[in-house]
Amino acid sequence: MRLKGKVALVTGAARGIGRGIAMRFAAEGACVGILDLDETACRMVVAAARSNGGEAIVLPADISQPAQVNIALATLRERFGAIDVLVNNAAVMPAGAIHETSPDDFDRCLAVNLRGTFLVSRGVIPGMLALGEGSIIHIASVTGLLGLPGIAAYSMTKGALIALTRAMSTDYAARGIRVNSISPGTIDSPMLHDFLAAQSDPDSLRQEFDQMHPIGRVGTIAEVANVCLFLASDEASFVTGANYTVDGGLSVKGEQPQD
Ligand SMILES: NC(=O)c1ccc[n+]([C@@H]2O[C@H](COP(=O)([O-])OP(=O)(O)OC[C@H]3O[C@@H](n4cnc5c(N)ncnc54)[C@H](O)[C@@H]3O)[C@@H](O)[C@H]2O)c1
Repeated sequence: MRLKGKVALVTGAARGIGRGIAMRFAAEGACVGILDLDETACRMVVAAARSNGGEAIVLPADISQPAQVNIALATLRERFGAIDVLVNNAAVMPAGAIHETSPDDFDRCLAVNLRGTFLVSRGVIPGMLALGEGSIIHIASVTGLLGLPGIAAYSMTKGALIALTRAMSTDYAARGIRVNSISPGTIDSPMLHDFLAAQSDPDSLRQEFDQMHPIGRVGTIAEVANVCLFLASDEASFVTGANYTVDGGLSVKGEQPQD
């Protein structure tokens, strides 16, 4: 029960990595706000958390909309009290190099991945300052550290989240709020399955993804949730401003020169 007594908010928690983090937090004793666009899927996560003996609440909202964010935060505080932990996980990933990305897709990517993170953080931080403590975790990506093809706008936002982690940790370190990010490599998740299903040869592409990571496979949702739990908990009391890669060694891999 490493989060016993804590109130946590996880955005994009209806499925995938966000769902895994929320379920793990609930199992560790936190009262968890399950925030997502998809209200029906949120309800299923809350039911699953409760059936494991955890406590959670549905918060239907679009994080790019300030009024919806404010309602969600007020609902969470009214139900469980002050928010101790925030995980900014919700994101969208338009495919394409820059010349292949439409201005609308670009704007939506910034609106969700950056403006949404800004709005939710902005809404949560005053309460954490009043408490004198808090932990904020941004879910970034190795695409914010590396040049990977075909996801330029998304990669830009993930690099910005890593920079934001440094800026926010500096602003709030002396006032008790720790701010860290996690940069996953490829994770076995619905987002990956959707992407593979749209490709001509999903099986060989999946093998390529596995081989791309030095550990020899893609990661699991649980492996991201484990690191997130550590950063959320008091065990990470001296950790702030860090970007934890959870990528099987991908971001430090060098290439052997060919003869
Ligand atoms: N899956 C991977 O391989 C991978 C790798 C690196 C980083 N990540 C990051 O991990 C996080 C979760 O990824 P995932 O694979 O679970 O994605 P996913 O697409 O499965 O889940 C994202 C969730 O966010 C929600 N969402 C989208 N826009 C929203 C909005 N405006 N307001 C509220 N909720 C919104 C969606 O409804 C969905 O439930 C993302 O930040 C992603 O960039 C994923």
